[in-house]
Amino acid sequence: MKVLLVGGGGREHALAWRLRQENPKLELIAAPGNPGIAELGRCVDVATTNVDALVELARAESVDWTLVGPEAALAAGVVDTFRAARLPIFGPTRAAAMLETSKSYSKTLMLGAGIPTARAVVCRDVSAARRAVDELGTPVVVKASGLAAGKGVIICQTIAEAYDAITSMLQENAFGDAGTTILVEEFMEGEELSVFVLTDGERVVALPAAQDHKRLLDGDRGPNTGGMGAYCPVSIAESAVLMTTIVDRVIRPTLGAMRARGTPFTGLLYAGLMLTDAGPKVVEFNCRFGDPETQAVMPVIAPNESVGEAMFAIARNEAIRDTVEFHATRSAVTTVVATGGYPDRPRTGDMITIPSPPAGVLVFHAGTRRLPNNQLVTSGGRVLAITGLGKSLDDAQRNSRDFASKVSFDNKQFRADIGWREVARRAGASGD
Ligand code: AMP
Ligand code: GLY
Repeated sequence: MKVLLVGGGGREHALAWRLRQENPKLELIAAPGNPGIAELGRCVDVATTNVDALVELARAESVDWTLVGPEAALAAGVVDTFRAARLPIFGPTRAAAMLETSKSYSKTLMLGAGIPTARAVVCRDVSAARRAVDELGTPVVVKASGLAAGKGVIICQTIAEAYDAITSMLQENAFGDAGTTILVEEFMEGEELSVFVLTDGERVVALPAAQDHKRLLDGDRGPNTGGMGAYCPVSIAESAVLMTTIVDRVIRPTLGAMRARGTPFTGLLYAGLMLTDAGPKVVEFNCRFGDPETQAVMPVIAPNESVGEAMFAIARNEAIRDTVEFHATRSAVTTVVATGGYPDRPRTGDMITIPSPPAGVLVFHAGTRRLPNNQLVTSGGRVLAITGLGKSLDDAQRNSRDFASKVSFDNKQFRADIGWREVARRAGASGD
C-alpha cells in the first residue's frame, strides 16, 4: 500500500503515525511533509495547493490513494482534479468544502435544515448588520464569512464594539475578500467540543471527541491561536447519548442537506460544537481534521480499529460500515510548543533540541525545518505537538507537560494546563 499525504503540519505527522501503526509496511510519500514525517516516509517538495504537481506526483509514484490534510488544498480543488483523473483521494470536493470555506453558506444550510446552531444574520452592508446587532443584543459575535486563518471572529461585549467590528470588516476590508460578507451571530455559552466523523457521504464513523484550547495562555487567557493543545477523550462526550444526539441531530442532517444540494460531502467532517444548556449547537464546520486535536485523537483510537481502511474506502468512493464510534482505549493530552511572538509575529530559525522521548510520549513536528547540516530549526509558530499518553488523563497530562518542558529552543512558549476542564470535572466529581 502506498499513500500520498498532502500537508506538512503536526496534524499530518499524526495521521502518518497512525497509518504506519496500523500498517507498518505502508509506503508514505508526503508533499511537502516535515522533518518528523520524514522519519516515516519520503518528503517531496511540492506545495499543498499546487494541484497539477500533486496529480503528477500521485501518478509518477503510482500511489494507491491520497490523503489531504489542509483546507487550502481542498479549497484549491485538489479533490475535483484527482477525481477527474480517476485517482482515489480522501477529502471533499471544492463545492462540499464550502461548509468550511464559507460561513454564510454553512449557516444558511444549517438554518434551512433545522440543525441546532446560533441564530445569525448574513449581511453585506453596514446598516443591515447594525440592525442585526440591535436585534440580537450583546454579547454578539461578528464573523467574516470567508477563510481568515482563525482570526475573522470577533466576540463583542458592547454595541459599540460590534459596530466597530462591522465597520472594520465591511468598510475597511480588515479581512479582505473573506470579510465582504459577514455574519452577525448570537453569542452561545458553554464548553466547546470537536467532533470528527469519517463519512462516505451518507454513512458515518465518529472518532472520539476532543477539546481544543484556543487561547495562548494558561487559564484560557490571552489572544486566540490556531490551538495550543487538546485532549481526548472528553468524559462528557463519552456518554453514548450525547454522541448519538450529535450524530443524529447535526451530522446526518448536514450530510443529507449536502446530498440534496448535489454536493455530497465525503471525507472528514469536523463539527465545532458548543454544549449549551439547550443541547449541542454548531459553532462551525471544518472540512478536514483539526490541528492539534488530531495529535490527541489518533493515538487513543483502539489499535484494532482501522482508520486507514475507512479512509481508503472513502477515497475509492465505496460505502463504509456505519458505526457510531471508534472508541478510545487510553487518554491523550497534546501540548503545543510554540515560538516566541506566536500568534502575531512568530520568530523562526531558532535551533531546536529534542531529547529522546520516554514511553508514553509522542513528538509530532509542525513548524520545524532541517538545515543542510542536519540541525533542526523552528520554521513556524506552532513548532511541536507533544502528546502524552496514559491510562488516566492526569498521567497523560503529566507526560505531555514534562516533555514539553524538556524540548528546547529560544523563547519557546507552551501552556502547562492543557486538559484543565477534565481535571476540574474529576476533582468536582470526587469532591476534592
Ligand atoms: P469559529 O472560527 O467560527 O470556530 O470561531 C472561533 C471561536 O470563536 C470558536 O471556537 C468559539 O470559541 C468562538 N465563537 C464563535 N462563534 C461563537 C458564538 N456564536 N458564541 C460564542 N463563541 C463563539
Ligand atoms: N483546532 C482548530 C482547527 O483545527 O481549526
